Amino acid sequence: MTDRDLAPRSADFSQSVMTELVLPQHTNAYGTCFGGTILSWIDIAAGICARRHAGAQAVTVAFDDVHFITPIRLGDIVNITARVCHAGRTSMEIRVEVWRERHNGDREHANTAYVVFVAVDADGRPLPVPALTLGTEADRARHDEAVERRQLRMTKAKRAAMR
Ligand SMILES: CC(C)(COP(=O)(O)OP(=O)(O)OC[C@H]1O[C@@H](n2cnc3c(N)ncnc32)[C@H](O)[C@@H]1OP(=O)(O)O)[C@@H](O)C(=O)NCCC(=O)NCCS
Repeated sequence: MTDRDLAPRSADFSQSVMTELVLPQHTNAYGTCFGGTILSWIDIAAGICARRHAGAQAVTVAFDDVHFITPIRLGDIVNITARVCHAGRTSMEIRVEVWRERHNGDREHANTAYVVFVAVDADGRPLPVPALTLGTEADRARHDEAVERRQLRMTKAKRAAMR
């Protein structure tokens, strides 16, 4: 039994925006932000977005390749935006964009990651999630790409489970 609202939801409904400041404890010996710290921020932003979409707690099940394109440095502001691009039966793919902001306000794209979350009940069992409504052309394009990624990801997941 569930009293959760499973009515379809838009990506706007759950979009989450996070802003961080790179402090000395976030950096390596070269003055750039640790990759692991950025991954952790990506995971948190995506997790908030997944939880909002699902209306339930959600766990990370997969992280796609992440490529660090631009170094993020001490003192930079980091802007992170997470948005659902696909909802399956119990899983959600979240697209996370990371932008570095300099002191003068200039912004540079640092990386984009795709993270998959599964909504779970208190015993960790998968729960159904609301369908995703696709309101814009961009949302529809992102959704089509997500369907392709999902197929590829599940092939990789089967291989990983056999190791
Ligand atoms: C997430 C978890 C509950 C899924 O359990 P499961 O037995 O694989 O459940 P199912 O086979 O029913 O799959 C559930 C959904 O996850 C998706 N999924 C499972 N493994 C996946 C993977 N490696 N990559 C992407 N999606 C995956 C399935 O496609 C399915 O999606 P759908 O319902 O939208 O079609 C389980 O794998 C788990 O607890 N993993 C550990 C999570 C964790 O500890 N994360 C880190 C801390 S938050």
